[in-house]
Amino acid sequence: MEKLPRIAATSPFKVEVEAGKTYSWCSCGFSKVEPFCDGAHKAFKNEDGTSIMKSVKYTPNETKIVSFCGCKQTKSPPLCDGSHCKIC
Ligand code: FES
Repeated sequence: MEKLPRIAATSPFKVEVEAGKTYSWCSCGFSKVEPFCDGAHKAFKNEDGTSIMKSVKYTPNETKIVSFCGCKQTKSPPLCDGSHCKIC
């Protein structure tokens, strides 16, 4: 089995987000549309068939540029907290 989560990038993804719109951040690192979820995490299941990981929803209250975590090591998902500095 592959190691989860996978490091999708060693730096954050800067994205302009819209107020009130809900974004689904990839937490597993296997999405093909990083930093957003494409359902790739569904391939990884516990022995009982439940998902090991799931996406993290994010709804900003203002339109702005945010840094979505790319390394998947952040302690404050879905946003970068600087944890990527420990792996680069
Ligand atoms: S990119 Fe993951 S903490 Fe910065």
